[in-house]
Amino acid sequence: MKIGIYGGTFDPPHLGHMEAARTAIDHFGLDRLLLIPNKLPPHKFLPEDGAQEEHRLAMTKICADAIGPRAEAIELELRREGRSYTADTIEILRREFPDAELYLLMGTDMFLSFETWSRPKEIAREVTLVPFFREEGGSHELFAVQSEKLRAELKAKISVLSLTEVHPISSSQIRKLLREAKTQDQGGDLLWPAVYGYILQQKLYGTNADLKSLQPNKLRAISYSMMKAKRIPHVQGAEETAVSLAKRWGVDPELARRAAILHDCTKYLELDEQLALCKKYGILLDELEQKSVKMLHSKTGAALASHVFGETQEVCNAIACHTTGKPDMNTFDKVLYLADYVEPTRDFEGIEELRELAFHDLDKAMILGLETTITELNEKEAPVHQNTFRTLERLRGSCL
Ligand SMILES: [Fe+2]
Ligand SMILES: [Fe+2]
Repeated sequence: MKIGIYGGTFDPPHLGHMEAARTAIDHFGLDRLLLIPNKLPPHKFLPEDGAQEEHRLAMTKICADAIGPRAEAIELELRREGRSYTADTIEILRREFPDAELYLLMGTDMFLSFETWSRPKEIAREVTLVPFFREEGGSHELFAVQSEKLRAELKAKISVLSLTEVHPISSSQIRKLLREAKTQDQGGDLLWPAVYGYILQQKLYGTNADLKSLQPNKLRAISYSMMKAKRIPHVQGAEETAVSLAKRWGVDPELARRAAILHDCTKYLELDEQLALCKKYGILLDELEQKSVKMLHSKTGAALASHVFGETQEVCNAIACHTTGKPDMNTFDKVLYLADYVEPTRDFEGIEELRELAFHDLDKAMILGLETTITELNEKEAPVHQNTFRTLERLRGSCL
């Protein structure tokens, strides 16, 4: 088994970290990549304007999820008191994985000062050193001299990893940009959107966004921070389709955009968290809803849209009925329901017909969508909400 080890303060983790992690996974064919936030880095102090451990860990977990199934963020160093010496971490990992090939990822500066680390010889014995090299800011000559020295003195195994995609920028520069950004999105564009969203939601690094009047890009980032990376393409697709359908059917495209951005924002909450939100916001549930996370997320999503993000009644109502429908759906509700149903990442038998119908006859598309849902739930022997039947009945009646 090949395991990559990538430590850092990750304060915050940014696109450069993610590029390095992805490139290492591909280049070495790593089975696992462990992202390990430091508790206290050995060579420096934690910055005063930095984020707390729990936030650094949460942001690193968001990045690991986005990098892919081989990456994971672990608390190994955060759980250990005192300075986070890499030699201690390697010792623990070696005990846990006696036969694994270990690859230790590191930035240029760390590589060039490797001999000043604690117990460099022990580290070099156990791992392949993987320094990142960037043409901008790197020097072939310095790398060659250092590699030669470490090979000779420590018998180090070294494999340089060239990075080309992301412009090099440090976490401290990003913190500064975020802190200074008063009106624009400065700094946010250097981060994975869900990490940026987490920062905005938690008001880290001096950001102080008013959650009740967010521009779409910030609303999007926060919504993405609340879900798994694999759901993001669906929400992006729903947003794009909701805007097109809104224009086609004469409802406000910008409000449709906001409804689509938020429609699944509570989808990843556990049942008990969903129920806690229902209690907090006084949401009344019928028997079926009390047991179904899938049905609950539209109710709790609508509650957050209203109470946390200050969205209009129209937006919140559409989110509330996007899963089951409701008999008196208006055009805006139908636009969101169908955008969710036919967005480009959806793939099922009959999707093309439904997609086309959504732009030609909204009610007929609704009928087909509801019928498809009922058939699918019946096949799975899953319960169908009474609102779904009632909506279908109402629409069939009006289409006669
Ligand atoms: Fe949903
Ligand atoms: Fe959805």
